[in-house]
This record gives sequence, structure tokens and C-alpha cells, in this order.
Amino acid sequence: MTKPSKIEELQELRILSQQGGGPARVDAQHKQGRLTARERLDLFLDKGSFREVDAFVKHRTHAFGLEKQQILSDSVVTGWGTVDGRLVYVFSQDFTVFGGSLSEVHAEKIIKVMEMALKNGAPVIGLNDSGGARIQEGVVSLGGYADIFLRNTMASGVIPQISAIMGPCAGGAVYSPALTDFIFMVRNSSYMFVTGPEVVKSVTHEEVSFEDLGGASVHASTSGVCHVVGDSEADTLFLIRKLLSYLPQNNLEDPPFKPSKDNPLRRDEALDTLIPDDPSKPYDIKEVIQMVVDEGAFYEIHDQFAQNIVVGFSRLGGHVIGIVANQPMVLAGVLDIDASDKAARFVRFCDSFNIPILTLVDVPGFMPGTAQEHNGIIRAGAKLLYAYCEATVPKLTVVTRKAYGGAYDVMSSKHIRGDVNLAWPTAEIAVMGPDGAVNIIFRKEIAEAKDPVARKAELVAEYRQEFANPYVAASRGFIDDVIQPSDTRPRLINALEMLTNKRDSNPARKHGNIPL
Ligand code: HXC
Repeated sequence: MTKPSKIEELQELRILSQQGGGPARVDAQHKQGRLTARERLDLFLDKGSFREVDAFVKHRTHAFGLEKQQILSDSVVTGWGTVDGRLVYVFSQDFTVFGGSLSEVHAEKIIKVMEMALKNGAPVIGLNDSGGARIQEGVVSLGGYADIFLRNTMASGVIPQISAIMGPCAGGAVYSPALTDFIFMVRNSSYMFVTGPEVVKSVTHEEVSFEDLGGASVHASTSGVCHVVGDSEADTLFLIRKLLSYLPQNNLEDPPFKPSKDNPLRRDEALDTLIPDDPSKPYDIKEVIQMVVDEGAFYEIHDQFAQNIVVGFSRLGGHVIGIVANQPMVLAGVLDIDASDKAARFVRFCDSFNIPILTLVDVPGFMPGTAQEHNGIIRAGAKLLYAYCEATVPKLTVVTRKAYGGAYDVMSSKHIRGDVNLAWPTAEIAVMGPDGAVNIIFRKEIAEAKDPVARKAELVAEYRQEFANPYVAASRGFIDDVIQPSDTRPRLINALEMLTNKRDSNPARKHGNIPL
């Protein structure tokens, strides 16, 4: 037999490096309804754009007979490519090789692309499918995770970091994603837990399924760990591509401008009658968003979690904006712990990446009650306050209806550097709603009245007339203008363009101390 030429040797090694754990394990992965690491990259990146690095890397372990199971590429595929022509760095964990577990070299491969991404200013997208630290490598693998966590933290706020959870992810495989900006999961197919059902059973004696412990629905609606859920792997990868269309490559760039066919002067008369006459009746704030933004397109983040506040990306006159909006349809749009956490993280993301923030306010206040107080509504509310206070991106605010109490201050008020604060004529801006206010300041008078019910109704009506309107705030300059709702889109686009060259900064310091 003749010796293969150097070129043939390269070609053979290349083919070998693409086989992952071999046909049987690839079959098993497919039978689970999942794609392989390379198939996912093919779907995610622009056709033909993937450039792999470190395909010839092999693990270095000798324990447990592992030296006999050397697989080129080890358990992760890494490199770069493009999404809609824009550079991204990627890693895709290969579950067919030792369950995608993280070896020393697996960590080194991820770190290499992370460092390239940081140096060259482009997002990192991690497709995670891993059983966590490679058990046979012991502390070396733990060290590998810690090395990644450090890079995740150093890259935070410099380049966007996005994680997709594509299979069962345990241990360190969930903590690196948790340090990134957005976590995507696949419905009924991906799981995240610190310890799996087996360990849970042995420690707490709870019997729980993968899905109930850490499925997409749990993390998207209850824990809030997951930001976006896809219906399939392909859908999840498509949703990440779509998210990237709103993001700059790094913190030194502006987000991508996309000319819109939607007329910037378009007025929507339906907005003039959207707010119900009865202040206790809800309406859907997402309808307002759709009527105002370019082509009604809104990319919602955390759509299942803390639905009393709505956050997501959109465009106005082609400019990317982040929207934070109280949702009167859910718990009357009250601010509770989860809503505060959700919005605070979103505001900080936008501020890190030069994305102006539009805040739509209809909030009756902070949620009262022992459950909220004991679980730290003060701490959570302070996070949101802090996030808005420190944000220096352009901040536009529209008060559509209620802005009561501390929640008025928090929701991007003038006092905390709101740049343009508008109100609809339906706005009610005061320390508290008429009912609560009258109960406190006229308690004695109502009790002593001949007809307490009628007297209270009179006082509520008087209070509403005096205080529950936008003009007291506007007379102080806390509201820049009271506008006709149908003018909202043109007014916001005008304000955004007026703020194009906004410069603002915070005092020099090592870093602030957000109340976590
Ligand atoms: C080495 C692993 C592995 C691991 C899985 N495998 N996890 N090998 N290290 N961590 C291997 C299995 O031995 C198996 O190999 C193959 O991958 C597929 O695994 P299965 O168990 O057959 O798959 P499945 O039933 O789908 O279950 C997937 C799983 C489960 C839920 C991820 O494998 C699991 O619970 N793994 C361990 C999770 C864990 O506790 N990891 C350590 C976390 S500690 P064979 O050859 O049999 O097919 C950690 C510390 C980091 O990560 C610290 C951060 C703060």
C-alpha cells in the first residue's frame, strides 16, 4: 500500500474531524429529535460562511482509559461565520462526544473564539448541548469552566453574548449561559439544571421529570432564566438571527439602522380612543406598540415571564429602540419583583449597547403584600431604579395613563434623566390613585359624614379633577409636552432624531454597586 500524500492525509483527517462521536451516536442524537453540532451551525450561519478552527484538537486525558477514545475536535466545534453578512463567533457543543462535556481542550477552544470576538468586536453565539464538566478530567475541567466564566464576565457589555440551549445542559453548562445576555431554549427538547433529576431525587427525594425541572416552559415563565423559546431547533436558530438584526457588533457601534417604508409622519387615529374611559379597565399595551413602531414589528424578550411588563426591540424611523412598557392587561401593570428584575436587566443591556430606550408608562405602583415585601420588592425595585438612573442612552417616555407613586419616578421620569417625557391627555400622574389618596387624607371627614359613601365619591371626583391628570406635572416641566395620542409616532421619531448626538456620562469610578 502506498503512503497517502500529505494532501490525502489532510483530507482524511478533515473528514475524521467532522464525524463527531461516530454514526451510532449521531443516529442516537437524531432519534432524540436533535441535530448535531455541525448541522446546527449549517442552519444558523450564512451558507458557506463557517470557518472552523481547532478541528485537530484532541483531549489530553489518560484517566479511565480515555486515552483510547481520542476524537478529533473533541466535544465542541468552534470558529466564525456570518449572519446576514455580519461577523459572529460561534461554538457548538457536540453531544455525540462524551455528552458534549467540557474537557480542558473544549474550554480552550471556546476561550480562543471568545478572545477573538472580544479583540475583533463581534458577538459570540454559543450553541450549548452538554452534560457539564467532563467527570473524568476532574478539577481540570472545573478550571476550564472558571476560565470561561471569567471571559464571559470580561466580555459582558463589550460584545453581545447569546446562548442557545439545544439539549440537556447541566452544571457548568448552565452557568456560562447564565452570564451571557440572552438565553434561548427549544420547546420540549432542551433542559437546564444545576443538577439533574437523578441528583435531585437522591438529595431532596423529589421525583421530577427533565421538563418539569428545567424545560423551556419552566425557565421561560417561572424562573425567567430563558428569554426566548423556539418551537424547534431551526426556529430557535432563526430567532437568534433575528435578534442579531437589532444589535450592534460591539459597545462602540450604534445598532444597525434599517430604512423603513413606514412613513415617519404616520398618525394612528385609533390611539385617540384606545384608553378606556373607566380607569380600572385594561387595554393591551402591545397594541400601542404595534401602532407606533415601524411596520408594527416588535421582537419581544421574556414574553412569558412577568407579563405585567413588556420588553423588547423594535424600530422607529429605522432606528433600533428598546421598549419597556407596563402592561395593564396583567395585574394592572403593577411593578413586582419579577417585573422589576426583567426590566432592569433589559434596560442595562440597552444602555451597554447604545440602544435608546422608549418607556411606555401605565403603572398603578409597586405591588403591595407580604409575599412581595418579604421576598425583596424593595431590592428588586431599586434595581430598576438604578438601571434607569445610570442609563445614558437616549431615553424617551410616554405616560399613557397611570404613573403613580414611586413607580412614576422609576419609569424613566424626567428626574432620572429622561430626555423627552411626553404624556397623553389621559395621563394620571400623582402620589397615588384617587381612591387610596382620599382614604388617607380624608379618613376622618369621610367617617364623620352623614352619607360616607356619597362624600367619598365626591372627594374622589374632586381629587381626580385636581390631580389625576398630566397638567400638574407639565406645569412643573416634569412632562415636556402633553400630546394627542395619534401623534405619538411622529413625535417619538422626531425626539429620537433630535437626540442622535446625545452625550451623557456618569462619574468615573471602578463600577457602581447595583442593588443585586
Ligand atoms: C463525562 C458525560 C458527562 C459528563 C454525560 N456524559 N455527561 N461524560 N462527563 N459530565 C456521557 C455519558 O456518560 C454518556 O456516555 C453520554 O455522555 C450521553 O449521556 P447520557 O447520560 O446517556 O444522556 P442522557 O440520558 O440524554 O442524559 C444527559 C445528561 C446526563 C442529563 C446531561 O448525562 C447527566 O446527568 N450528566 C451528568 C450531569 C452532571 O452532573 N455533570 C457534572 C456537572 S458539575 P456513553 O459512553 O455512556 O454513551 C459541573 C461543574 C461546573 O459542571 C461548575 C460550575 C459552577
